[in-house]
Amino acid sequence: MASSTHRTWLKRLLLLAAHHSPLALRALTTLRPVDRTEFKNSGRWEPEYREGGWDWLWDSREAIHHQVIAAYCKPLHGKAAILDVGCGEGVLHDALRGVGYGRYVGIDLSETAIGRAARSADGQTLFMVAKAETFETAERFNLIVINECLYYLQDPPSLLARLAGFLEPDGAFVISMAMGNLNEGLLMLGIWRDLERDFLVRDEISLLHDGGPVRIIKTLQPRRLHGQSTTRPPNARTRQTDTRQTTTTTDNPQRSHM
Ligand SMILES: C[S@@+](CC[C@H](N)C(=O)[O-])C[C@H]1O[C@@H](n2cnc3c(N)ncnc32)[C@H](O)[C@@H]1O
Repeated sequence: MASSTHRTWLKRLLLLAAHHSPLALRALTTLRPVDRTEFKNSGRWEPEYREGGWDWLWDSREAIHHQVIAAYCKPLHGKAAILDVGCGEGVLHDALRGVGYGRYVGIDLSETAIGRAARSADGQTLFMVAKAETFETAERFNLIVINECLYYLQDPPSLLARLAGFLEPDGAFVISMAMGNLNEGLLMLGIWRDLERDFLVRDEISLLHDGGPVRIIKTLQPRRLHGQSTTRPPNARTRQTDTRQTTTTTDNPQRSHM
């Protein structure tokens, strides 16, 4: 009989295989429909942050994928304007600051999380309590980062279409989603599939972190930037990815806080 370690690895490999095979994904989601209940509860965040339920995001193990995301800012030589959607307590901001940016705006619906993040605010760095779905700004960004947040939002493709209006003409999204178990994995693979109808994958990295989740990080750009139609057949999966890498490691009201 397979040990639990073997079963975990089998599930991870199954998820990665399903990611690259629409047929396998459809078969798996038919066999095991995705339960979104846990992800739809927006009332969870305030109490969970107050009780320290997300303190583990500061663990050094999390820092590895933060460094991968931050690396996407490097080509902008410390001048990137970055919007961090669902920034929480600003964990990712630490890594972004290490690489350097010209402007950083972090938004999150949790007042507690933003109150803590705001300790790092300065002239280039703004934290705001705001809902991703209703956030408004006159600023334009080179990168919009959505780190481990997209699956909590009601309608990811519509949200991204809206946020794309805040991108500079050649700007891009950097999105990370971790698949901790089969249910989460199937939910996230479905989100990637839906996003790829309207957005072009420019780069993709899969991280298989020993003892942790399978994580997929992609950079996306609106297809309209590339003169491509967005009226694609529902399950079309044309990939025009520049680079693909898989790495295994062992180790409402908007208020500003400046
Ligand atoms: C798992 S945490 C990730 C936090 C941060 N991105 C990180 O990786 O450390 C998800 C975050 O999404 C935020 N969030 C959930 N729904 C949101 C929404 N509709 N608008 C803005 N933020 C939201 C939560 O408050 C929470 O801080």
